[in-house]
Amino acid sequence: MSVVSDTSKRITIPDIRKSKGKEPIVCLTAYTVLTARWLDDHTDLLLVGDSLGMVLQGESTTLKVSMDDMVYHTTLVSKSCQRAMLVADMPHLSYTSPEQALINASRLLDEAGAEVVKLEGGEDIAHIVDHLTSNSVPVCGHVGLQPQSVEKYGGFKIQGREQEEADQILKDAQALEESGAMMIVLECIPATLATTITAEINIPTIGIGAGVDCDGQVLVVYDLLGISGRSPRMTKNFLADSGNIRDAVADYVDAVKSGGFPTDEHSY
Ligand code: KIV
Repeated sequence: MSVVSDTSKRITIPDIRKSKGKEPIVCLTAYTVLTARWLDDHTDLLLVGDSLGMVLQGESTTLKVSMDDMVYHTTLVSKSCQRAMLVADMPHLSYTSPEQALINASRLLDEAGAEVVKLEGGEDIAHIVDHLTSNSVPVCGHVGLQPQSVEKYGGFKIQGREQEEADQILKDAQALEESGAMMIVLECIPATLATTITAEINIPTIGIGAGVDCDGQVLVVYDLLGISGRSPRMTKNFLADSGNIRDAVADYVDAVKSGGFPTDEHSY
């Protein structure tokens, strides 16, 4: 079942908020009209992720994705997004000040049709999130492994294994909640830390490589289909068993809803 039982109804921010701790929230990335059409009926959230830099543009990081790229792909996805709630990533260097963030967030919402914008960072960007939410921009946070900071980490590395780092990630999530974020992505952190954060904050957590106890799960759709040319531990190729896209997506949705994905094999 979706977070709303009426399958003809568009999913709203209150629906997502209310499902915390009750109904697992299912999210997949989408970058094109066609992918969004396959997924819209099945998922609660569609995310136009800046992962498109890696899986569409062939880059090794997300750092070169521009605002124009995000507006273009969000516009495409919004054409097929009738039911799921549409979240779009703010790309690298598009939110270096509160004023710049608001201008760029408005492009994603008003020009491209997103309903929520996602920003990477915690306490360090709380003042920016506060400015956005005070101006009625719905925000999703993103803590733990932040791909836009990959140069700082020296690679895509799991975060929060050391106690000090784990404490900071919890503080980051709390700061985002206090600044008005409506949900938070937790990427590549120990499952035990994700369990603690999910219990400590009152907004939904969406995990990727963060264990089964998050309020929802997200995967990059091309990883789910095994066509991204990469297979990090937190992903699973659902097409390998099902043999067709429709069943692969349905199997992922069922696995998230039943608590069957991720397993320990996909967690840290
Ligand atoms: O860019 C993206 O696809 C993401 C998800 C992996 C959470 O941020």
